[in-house]
Amino acid sequence: MDSKAGKFKVADLKLADEGNKLIEWAESRMPVLAALREKYKQTKPLKGYRIAGCLHVTKETAVLVKTFVDAGAQVSWSGCNPLSTNDAVAAALAAQGISIFAWHGMNVKEFYWCIEETLKIHPNLTLDDGADLIFTIHKNHPDFAEKYVIGGTEETTTGVHRLRAMAADGALKYPVIAVNDAETKWDFDNVYGTGQSTLDGVLRATSVLLAGKNIVVAGFGHCGKGVAMRAKGLGANVIITEVKPTAALKATLEGFRVMKMDDAAKVGDIFITATGVKDIIIKKHFHVMKEGAIVCNTGHYDCEINLTDLAKLTKSKRVIRDDNEEYLLKNGKRIYVLAQGRLVNLAAAEGHPSEVMDMSFANQFMSQLRLAEVHKKGKRLENRVYDIPAEQDQQIARVKLATNGISIDRLTPEQKKYMDDYSAGT
Ligand code: ADE
Repeated sequence: MDSKAGKFKVADLKLADEGNKLIEWAESRMPVLAALREKYKQTKPLKGYRIAGCLHVTKETAVLVKTFVDAGAQVSWSGCNPLSTNDAVAAALAAQGISIFAWHGMNVKEFYWCIEETLKIHPNLTLDDGADLIFTIHKNHPDFAEKYVIGGTEETTTGVHRLRAMAADGALKYPVIAVNDAETKWDFDNVYGTGQSTLDGVLRATSVLLAGKNIVVAGFGHCGKGVAMRAKGLGANVIITEVKPTAALKATLEGFRVMKMDDAAKVGDIFITATGVKDIIIKKHFHVMKEGAIVCNTGHYDCEINLTDLAKLTKSKRVIRDDNEEYLLKNGKRIYVLAQGRLVNLAAAEGHPSEVMDMSFANQFMSQLRLAEVHKKGKRLENRVYDIPAEQDQQIARVKLATNGISIDRLTPEQKKYMDDYSAGT
């Protein structure tokens, strides 16, 4: 379907008014992005650039998309997870003339169809969350890398990890900026964003009391740490499972119990996977779980909880409430799986709050701009994964502080000199 300029496929265009209000709500909590929008709306530095994006269609993403459009870009968008699209937001974007292909509850075939549709603009910039768009270009349109694409950005830990592996193998066909690795992204979005939104998803899908429950968090990376901290704050007994010795040690010093999943499986009331690795909860774990155990995932892909294994142990299943399926096992116990093992924070709730996405998306915007600026100078970055410049982090954090009405001290010239003075001792 066409609306104004853009082609789109969304669930229901009539939801656009509702979506506009959600976007307005997010906008008022995203001052860093608003400042960038104000700065670039006259000069339009992205004019002539075509951005294909594959990232959760949320109210916060809509603010990012509108910022790109105001800076002159042509945008074509799909969601990066079959269950994370907010249909009202997708409708609002479509009604504003954005090319968007996204609806809640699509199947995997439709997911890749949507990505292919976004590629019809022949993007020269790509934006990913989980690298599915980049992988699709590499697999189905390898010529795009030479013909059109000057670079891309990647939002998430899992995506960056895979892209680094691809670059190490010499298989990456264009440069990618690792937005995830910006301090103003991972240290806020991954920790506080995931911490809050994951528990938000668990509560919306279950409404259980968290205080006093044994909550098993698999993975004590930034996301797992955020979930564990917030669960502890709500009175849960948090148990961590890990494979990395230093991460496990940190968890113990934070006061969490650390054990193997084989042991945690027997005592957990709620399981939350946050590892980025497959097969964290498998047959032998389901087999020993307590009656009524609740299982969910907040990692990017839906492979952390092995639902094929669970199906083999299951006699029957039914939807007990939204985003919550009851599996009745052959051994008589019931296990509840939230959001089909997909990202519980986006499928059952609204993803991270606008305040943290403000910084993540400011990094996205500035990174896309960086790729365009390099291109305008007639240059091209190498085909590898690039970090965010350190000054970009400080700039974003400074604006964020200012918009919160907080000013901080600055080093005096004497203090700077003192820091560098290697002849000064005790
Ligand atoms: N990832 C996690 N939370 C998100 C949000 N609110 N919008 C887009 N991507 C997200």
